[in-house]
Amino acid sequence: MIEVSNVSKTYGHKKNAFTALKDINFTIEDGASVAIIGKSGSGKSTLMHAMSGLDRPQTGQVIIDGQNILELKQKDVDKFRAQKIGFIFQSFFLQATETVSDNVSLPLEIAKVSKRARKAKITAALEAVDLSEKARNKAKDLSGGQKQRLVIARAIVNEPQIIFADEPTGNLDSATGEKIEELLFGYNKNNGVTLIIVTHDPDLAAKCDVQIHIRDGQVSSIKGDKAVVKTPKPIQVKKVQ
Ligand SMILES: Nc1ncnc2c1ncn2[C@@H]1O[C@H](COP(=O)(O)OP(=O)(O)OP(=O)(O)O)[C@@H](O)[C@H]1O
Ligand SMILES: [Mg+2]
Repeated sequence: MIEVSNVSKTYGHKKNAFTALKDINFTIEDGASVAIIGKSGSGKSTLMHAMSGLDRPQTGQVIIDGQNILELKQKDVDKFRAQKIGFIFQSFFLQATETVSDNVSLPLEIAKVSKRARKAKITAALEAVDLSEKARNKAKDLSGGQKQRLVIARAIVNEPQIIFADEPTGNLDSATGEKIEELLFGYNKNNGVTLIIVTHDPDLAAKCDVQIHIRDGQVSSIKGDKAVVKTPKPIQVKKVQ
């Protein structure tokens, strides 16, 4: 379960202060697929960063598996992330001049997985995204869709409990985007991994169990049957048709 309670985030100080998240509250069940939707600048990425321990909001709690990650020291947050969370960023964040295999290896090295164990996991992750043939190629020589598949291999190689994906299909043509969606939802359904997707795409959002709408740093609505809004006022959670 992921419990987000009273999370607020302000960037900057004094007259430059900007509150990007205001008192966010919800709970997400394990294994759910969740879309975070909202206009540009509404606070989606800020929320994703707060929920995954990439950034610290000033107030509130983010409890994953009973652990309030905001209470952990930075190095323990980093370890928690490396063990439990996979990330897919729109801008890839690949090591361009490293090989495909070495890119996938990175989270395993951070999580201190032995070299021998790494090899088998890398092979399995590349097979899962149908990229085994490119294992020795440099990341920069892949096509856009292949890069996105590599990003997914890197996100799943640690067998995470949660995957965060920021606009995972934003840069792709619709056929390639559909393949990426299939991979992500397949992983969510078959492995019970919680999938949290930031997206502008209403069709993609509709495929998720839960839709969380963000407006001006606040939750404006939550729909779906695998999330609840806790405070300030519990609202009736509607079932998705
Ligand atoms: N480091 C920062 N310093 C100051 N303000 C910031 C910072 N990061 C984000 N913001 C502001 O916080 C608000 C929310 O930003 P965020 O990146 O979360 O939006 P978003 O919903 O992800 O938008 P997009 O769809 O364009 O990616 C925006 O108004 C943005 O300008
Ligand atoms: Mg964003």
